[in-house]
Amino acid sequence: MELIRILVYFIFGSFLLIYLALKRNNSYFSKRGILHDKPELFYGNLKEFTRSKTLYQIIREYYMKYKGSGRFVGIYLYMRKAMMLLDLDLIQDILVKDFGNFTDHGHYYNEKDDPISAHLVNLDGIRWKTMRAKLTPAFTSGKIKFMLTSVVDIANQLVNVLEETLSSTNMDDGVHCDDLMVRYTTDVTGSGVFGLKCNSLRNPNCEFIAITKKLCYYRHSWPIVALMTLFPNLFRKLKFKYINEEVSQFFLRVVRETVEFRDRTSEQRKDFLNILMELRKPNTVDNLTIDEITAQAFAFFAAGYETSASALSFCLYELALNQDIQDKARREITETIARHDGKLTYEAVNEMKYLLQVMHETMRMYSIVPFLVRKTAEDYIVSNTNHVIEKGTTVIIPMDAIHHDPDIYPNPEQFDPERFTKTEVENRHPMAWLGFSRGGRACIGSRYAEFQVLIGLSSLLKNFRFSPSHKTQIPMKFNMYKMCRGPEKGVYLKVEKL
Ligand code: HEM
Repeated sequence: MELIRILVYFIFGSFLLIYLALKRNNSYFSKRGILHDKPELFYGNLKEFTRSKTLYQIIREYYMKYKGSGRFVGIYLYMRKAMMLLDLDLIQDILVKDFGNFTDHGHYYNEKDDPISAHLVNLDGIRWKTMRAKLTPAFTSGKIKFMLTSVVDIANQLVNVLEETLSSTNMDDGVHCDDLMVRYTTDVTGSGVFGLKCNSLRNPNCEFIAITKKLCYYRHSWPIVALMTLFPNLFRKLKFKYINEEVSQFFLRVVRETVEFRDRTSEQRKDFLNILMELRKPNTVDNLTIDEITAQAFAFFAAGYETSASALSFCLYELALNQDIQDKARREITETIARHDGKLTYEAVNEMKYLLQVMHETMRMYSIVPFLVRKTAEDYIVSNTNHVIEKGTTVIIPMDAIHHDPDIYPNPEQFDPERFTKTEVENRHPMAWLGFSRGGRACIGSRYAEFQVLIGLSSLLKNFRFSPSHKTQIPMKFNMYKMCRGPEKGVYLKVEKL
């Protein structure tokens, strides 16, 4: 009886303590006179995210509500308190000028039990800085130029596979374009990163595609992610893993086997894995272990295939809805390739300025990630305010909301690549477009991403016309459960061979 009473007191006491801690946490902004929406006890300002709205919608509505009322606003992402920036000058300070105080993402990783989670996207501090410096040379124009031939080969395969698909597709429904784009970018990224022929264009049921399907969804719910970020050491002690075990084992095996094979045969390839292998310096503190190599290769793959596939799918979708823009892009492609002896060369791709505008406008309308995050290293005085962003605080840069701000982009829901002419870009604030982010932590693979997207697009538009089918979702809705923005019901388009 006594034991039961103690247990009841213990449970009641624990709940009371958690309740008081949450209450205290939720009073952070009001105590400091920082504007914010009243938080719910456990959800913070994200209650609707769990029920009805995407994170994109919530962040956009929050930004629009508070825009003009200050340089930043407070927001509770479940239990995690964050400062959402509203002012482009402040964003520039944090991403570029004062970057030294905002190098960290503050993501959870667990190197011991989940070795491939310790990759460039997740690392922070000096370990991130050293790794970034080592990996940056992998993305020079020269290295990317070397990879061009294999990207063009895969794009040719994409054209062949699409042509074959046409005969077996009911064109009232249209072709499942986003599925095809994931297969294209899986093959390109698999070849560019690991030098492997994934062959998913030919074989949609291959192992790589099965793995990518597990990779693109959240493994843990958002409240768990918030707790992992708040108490990383506790979660590490509990041996919590961020990455799905099957995905982890797959990449560890693929990299180990490939590295062993190349070491045995002294084979040299023009891919990222080769560059990572060259970074090994046995018996020095600088040595990159096999787990570290796998983690970085995994990051390139994970950060590269789905983002680029989404950019391609949304682009085809908008081009299908805007035939005049599609025609203009196709004219540029055909004329440029003709000037280069009918070949899709590195120089030809670089000359396709309008196509790049189309890509950047797509990434504006469909920001692949809703916001950027930074963790404050030391207390930061926000100029022209009475506020300090305290050490350890999360900073949110609402990229998608900025991309849809009508004061920056009039009529933001209209697809208009003319917004990205050189003059238009120069007339805007440099932080008005953050598709690949800015500053020292911006996307390391942006040039490579542009190449695989532009090569894919030019090969497709040169050979096919895309238009909406009765199954095309208009307006587009988005998948709530994917890590990066993806269509809710797929991108189905009519395709006609030219
Ligand atoms: C259209 C395609 C892509 C988009 C929209 C995209 C976007 C982004 C964004 C927004 C970030 C976050 C930057 C920040 O926190 O400030 C990022 C980081 C990163 N991206 Fe990309 N990315 C794309 C393709 C790629 C590709 C193809 C690769 C590799 C081959 C890649 C590798 C990375 C890595 C490793 C990081 C982490 C950089 C760091 O923390 O130092 N991305 N990307």
